[in-house]
Amino acid sequence: MTRIRTDQKRHQLYWVRFDDGAERPVTLSLSSGTQVYGEQVITEEGREFRVWDPYRSKLAASIVHGLSVFAFTKGVSVLYLGASSGTTASHVSDLIGVDGVVYCVEFAPRVMRNLLQVCTTRANMVPILADAYHPENYLQVPELVDIIYQDVAQPDQAEILIRNSVRFLKPGGTAYLAVKARSIDVVAKPKQVFLKEEKKLKHAGFTIVDRIDLEPFSSDHIFISAIFSGEVC
Ligand SMILES: C[S@@+](CC[C@H](N)C(=O)[O-])C[C@H]1O[C@@H](n2cnc3c(N)ncnc32)[C@H](O)[C@@H]1O
Repeated sequence: MTRIRTDQKRHQLYWVRFDDGAERPVTLSLSSGTQVYGEQVITEEGREFRVWDPYRSKLAASIVHGLSVFAFTKGVSVLYLGASSGTTASHVSDLIGVDGVVYCVEFAPRVMRNLLQVCTTRANMVPILADAYHPENYLQVPELVDIIYQDVAQPDQAEILIRNSVRFLKPGGTAYLAVKARSIDVVAKPKQVFLKEEKKLKHAGFTIVDRIDLEPFSSDHIFISAIFSGEVC
């Protein structure tokens, strides 16, 4: 019996149904025979699918919660800020395929070593050791990108996204931002922190199109999807 089904709305995404009836997103592996973070691999009809853990990836968590704007189609270019050791970035690499590219920015040398390992098995992942606060230093990004994905857990998250978007995001491009309330303000109520961050994005020419609470997978996080006008107010 087949356990894998395609997602009708989100191209390149699949779902697996487990024996207990639970469903989880999976991606068709671009690098058969390799795992990135000990994820479960399911082989069906000769194809290898990697189970995408919503407790390990905020993008997977947002998908499980019904992310409506899904721009990760075949061949798109992605600037990924805060790639860490490549957990989520590797699933993005699966989704966009060999014709796409994901530029992975990470500033911590220790995790960069793991990321480099992942990039050696995936030709569409480009590692960049840099501070995302200074996009002017990314010499490896030669183009405007379709998507900026950001998960840096820093107090100046909105500012970092705006700086990168002004420089690298196409007008009409999509930004995804995982906002961690406690990284921005430990005392304020998460809802107030989220509203403040959204206000900054709106001022910078973004239209917020989706806002997802990531409980129970990540506490005090929301996941924002926004479209960039290209015109900063
Ligand atoms: C929450 S983790 C990212 C997890 C990753 N997105 C995933 O799902 O696989 C945040 C990462 O952002 C990195 N980071 C934080 N501030 C950064 C900055 N200014 N520039 C580049 N990387 C940064 C951290 O070193 C850390 O690896």
